[in-house]
Amino acid sequence: MSEDEFRAALSRFTAGVVLVTAHDPEEGPRGEDVGMTATAFMSVSLDPPLVMVSVRNGSRMDELLERQPHWAVSVLSDGQRHIAGRFAMKGRISDRLLFEDMSVVRGEHTGAPLAVGALATLECRTEQRVTAGDHTLVVARVLAAAAPAAEGGPLTYFRGRYRTLG
Ligand SMILES: Cc1cc2nc3c(=O)[nH]c(=O)nc-3n(C[C@H](O)[C@H](O)[C@H](O)COP(=O)(O)O)c2cc1C
Repeated sequence: MSEDEFRAALSRFTAGVVLVTAHDPEEGPRGEDVGMTATAFMSVSLDPPLVMVSVRNGSRMDELLERQPHWAVSVLSDGQRHIAGRFAMKGRISDRLLFEDMSVVRGEHTGAPLAVGALATLECRTEQRVTAGDHTLVVARVLAAAAPAAEGGPLTYFRGRYRTLG
């Protein structure tokens, strides 16, 4: 199987889009927030409540989650495509300006920024890390979950493009 065949097949799997966030206390005098757009996110277990995200080895988020067990997930709505786009840009130096430009609240369990207007937010603490090829599966316990936005549909990703339902 070629890489193109693999990519083409998997691009037909429709995924919801989340923003994974964490606070890096070691960056700068007051720490710094870091975000990463992800589709490789899933719910894993109900009892205990576990979720998982697959993070590319060597990425900024991977480096941070190696030492920061507390992180958060914002399930993006169809009105938050611009957020997904920004937090997927390669080779970013800092996410400070990206966060300055959007509305966030700080998660009380994790200190991670949660996107206002997200369909749902989860605060998590890593329980297990599994190296899987060029990614690491980060399995985490859900410390808090909220579904604040009652209206609005999900942001999805299918065949290399952001989509909305309906
Ligand atoms: C739709 C979409 C989904 C993505 N899903 C993931 C993912 O699940 N895991 C991951 O590690 N990177 C994912 N990425 C890539 C990261 O968002 C991107 O590599 C990162 O933000 C750039 O930072 P870096 O230069 O440190 O990799 C995705 C990108 C896009 C556009």
